[in-house]
Amino acid sequence: TLGNSTNIFWHECPVGKADRQKLLNQQGCVVWITGLSGSGKSTLACSLGRELHSRGNLSYVLDGDNLRHGLNKNLGFSPEDRTENIRRVGEVAKLFADAGLICIASLISPYRKDRNACRALLPDANFVEVFLNMPLELCEGRDPKGLYKLARAGKIKGFTGIDDPYEPPLNCEIEIKQKEGVCPTPNEMAGQVVSYLEDKGFLH
Ligand code: PPS
Repeated sequence: TLGNSTNIFWHECPVGKADRQKLLNQQGCVVWITGLSGSGKSTLACSLGRELHSRGNLSYVLDGDNLRHGLNKNLGFSPEDRTENIRRVGEVAKLFADAGLICIASLISPYRKDRNACRALLPDANFVEVFLNMPLELCEGRDPKGLYKLARAGKIKGFTGIDDPYEPPLNCEIEIKQKEGVCPTPNEMAGQVVSYLEDKGFLH
């Protein structure tokens, strides 16, 4: 839908996605990392970005926490604001994928419908949903920013996993979890995603 805009048109440029992908020798896509606060999304995003870079693939990380310093600085954590947050990042990720890049988005993105709305912006195969499935106890134990502690003390209201919901994906492309109680290293996690992208022909 066109929202509130009327009398607007779409202008097509002569250089398209296929031309840019040829230049970059890769296929643009979105790797969408979802999971609880403290599950390691940003760490995985950075490891993946580094690994892709070292292989000669162009990627860009859209990190939820970072984007809230700029693009999304007017949004909080109410359900409506989280939905708008994810919608904006989904649209930006779509632009990056259209630019031919491997766009790595890392946001809690707690609501299934919001993630699915981002997926629906792209051909289905170009949206790779990665569920960083780490137990709440692990994330809370890490508590890198001390936010779980504040949430437990009632000083932050509506904290995901404590008094706000997290809806795990039902059909994600990649699930990353502990094996026999041991967490894969960031490099191992990134390797899992790179293998998937390689298999699907996004990297050359
Ligand atoms: S969301 O739910 O996708 O819109 O969130 P996101 O943009 O990824 O931002 C998550 C980071 O914001 C901090 N933070 C909170 N998280 C969850 N719930 C509440 N109420 C909250 N308040 C602040 C927190 O540092 C998250 O960072 P990560 O990197 O996920 O740990």
